[in-house]
Amino acid sequence: MSRNIYSENKVVSLYGLSRTIPDSILIDYCNKIIAHASPRSLCEVGFGKGSTLIPFATFPNLEVFGVDSSSVMSKFVEEELLKRGLRAKIINADARSLPALLEKVDLVHTKAVTHMFENPREFLTAISRTVPEGGYFVIGKEESQPEDNLENIGKFRLANEEDPVLRDFYLAYFKMRREAKNPFVIPQMPAGDYDAAVNFLVNQGFCIEKEISTPQWTKQITLCEIIEAIREGTFTVFSKNCTLSDRRIYAEEMERFCSANNIDSHAIRSYPSKLKAMILRKQGSAQC
Ligand SMILES: C[S@@+](CC[C@H](N)C(=O)[O-])C[C@H]1O[C@@H](n2cnc3c(N)ncnc32)[C@H](O)[C@@H]1O
Repeated sequence: MSRNIYSENKVVSLYGLSRTIPDSILIDYCNKIIAHASPRSLCEVGFGKGSTLIPFATFPNLEVFGVDSSSVMSKFVEEELLKRGLRAKIINADARSLPALLEKVDLVHTKAVTHMFENPREFLTAISRTVPEGGYFVIGKEESQPEDNLENIGKFRLANEEDPVLRDFYLAYFKMRREAKNPFVIPQMPAGDYDAAVNFLVNQGFCIEKEISTPQWTKQITLCEIIEAIREGTFTVFSKNCTLSDRRIYAEEMERFCSANNIDSHAIRSYPSKLKAMILRKQGSAQC
């Protein structure tokens, strides 16, 4: 597995950076999942700062569990739950041991975690064991995540028609990494793209029931924030295979790229965003 950057206090404290999703969107997302599956128990895998675990915990008659290997994230979410008078059982552990830690639950949900593993299939296999026959596996994504969807840009061959400046910024970043003999590695199962994970789960005996989508919101970010994320390593894609000194050099290089090309790195850039989730159901012997 790649280093879990979310074990570091600094990364967790900067986690809001460009990543805040409006509460109304998160609530809509969780409502749609619960309305479809009506689970009595649910486990949120890799809950981070609790963006979906907390809204799930507001449902009456739903027993909520959460597993995250970062003790910093776990403590943060425990405190948030307490502040809001909500209940969820927080398990601070590697999710790959989940079958040994938790009885089966009606629904497992995960979003933006698969990109953290060298072997995401092993992760998905482990957490899917916690789903009984007839139970649900729900995988979510944030569509349009310009700050760390280098992987999406990779998949779509840099066809970032929304914003050619961002595309050129990332092209320069990739080129610099190649020239530094430390090429950027696209994760097997990127955070913002669940197609490969869904295919894998279908091959493991899950059937697609429904894809849900929230309304759109506008995500705003500056290139300065992305450069800061490169420098601080606050996204796994920027920190993988990079030492602190590499990251400083890459951030300075990207600052130079912006000034050499007269790009205002402080300008706010806007991107249409949506949360989506694929709801899969574990089959017994029956085919989908
Ligand atoms: C990019 S964050 C996503 C958080 C949240 N799901 C979201 O969408 O905002 C990834 C989370 O997965 C957690 N994580 C990474 N590896 C893990 C593992 N092996 N077991 C459990 N959690 C893990 C990290 O600590 C972090 O909180």
